[in-house]
Amino acid sequence: MAQIKTIGVLTSGGDAPGMNAAVRAVIRTALARGMKVSGIKKGYQGLLNEEIVDMGSRSVSKILDRGGTILGTARCEEFMSDEGKKKGADICRKHGIEALIVIGGDGSYKGALGLSRHGINVVGIPATIDLDIASTEYTIGFDTAVNTAMEAIDKVKDTSSSHERCSIIEVMGRHAGYIALWCGITNGAEDILLPEYKEDFDIGKLARNIIDNRRKGKLHHIIINAEGTGKDSVELAKEIEAATKIETRATVLGYIQRGGSPSAKDRYYASIMGAYAVDLLYQGKENRIVCFRKGNFTDLDIEAALAEQKKPIDAYQFEVSKLLSVEAVLDE
Ligand code: F6P
Repeated sequence: MAQIKTIGVLTSGGDAPGMNAAVRAVIRTALARGMKVSGIKKGYQGLLNEEIVDMGSRSVSKILDRGGTILGTARCEEFMSDEGKKKGADICRKHGIEALIVIGGDGSYKGALGLSRHGINVVGIPATIDLDIASTEYTIGFDTAVNTAMEAIDKVKDTSSSHERCSIIEVMGRHAGYIALWCGITNGAEDILLPEYKEDFDIGKLARNIIDNRRKGKLHHIIINAEGTGKDSVELAKEIEAATKIETRATVLGYIQRGGSPSAKDRYYASIMGAYAVDLLYQGKENRIVCFRKGNFTDLDIEAALAEQKKPIDAYQFEVSKLLSVEAVLDE
């Protein structure tokens, strides 16, 4: 098979800290291997609009520590259709792009799979703060997002204790509760509401737990609510206040979790995964997803990766989160 001469790179879906480190690694590795790189702006939308630029080594200087993505990103309706994907593949061919590296989540992989069916070789790099890609144990952006949320929740906890309030803090995670679980454990939250367990939600039980904690002398009560539970935090605060007569406030952390300078872990994983993606193409591989599994950087066929079942939240870890906050109450 002839060596690929030009590859394209784009970032797609929700941005994630570390995407820039991945873009930098893709470009610098490709140039080192003698390939040219076309940067595609604003994800699949930019591809359809032919917003394509040549990327040199210096175009990615000073971005390793920057949040967001210098390429821009978007969620693209038109690309959902097969027609959109065919148009995208034709545009790749028109611009001499023989293979495309897609940095994003599962939704972005589906777009890439569609492109591969129209003859474009694709490689996916996992990047989403939600950590909800079945085929990999790590996704770029998760570590920074959790640290950002954890620091914010520590601050809310201070004021919650001073005012003897109950605080609901909503974190991101459209379909998965990983950010919530990690914050729950690292912030020592009294309750964690996860999308994976949303059927078990019981306002009576939650209210009793809050009242019990207060009786035992605990000044604050922190509830982490993952966005994916579908429970509006402001409404929930009103319900809790009515049921417990304890002042309750809601804080929705929102997009603060998606921004900021990436952590060392995110920069490191992004750099290795970016280089690895290029080297798959350099070795003549086709339609792969870069993954981190059992302590190793590895890769899977894109179709097989997308067919993997979503990992459930670890029941033991969820149990531990409850156990530790209860022990803290008894100690006080
Ligand atoms: O996929 C990451 C994520 O941050 C989710 O947690 C959240 O639901 C979603 O993106 C928000 O997306 P948008 O940028 O389209 O509002």
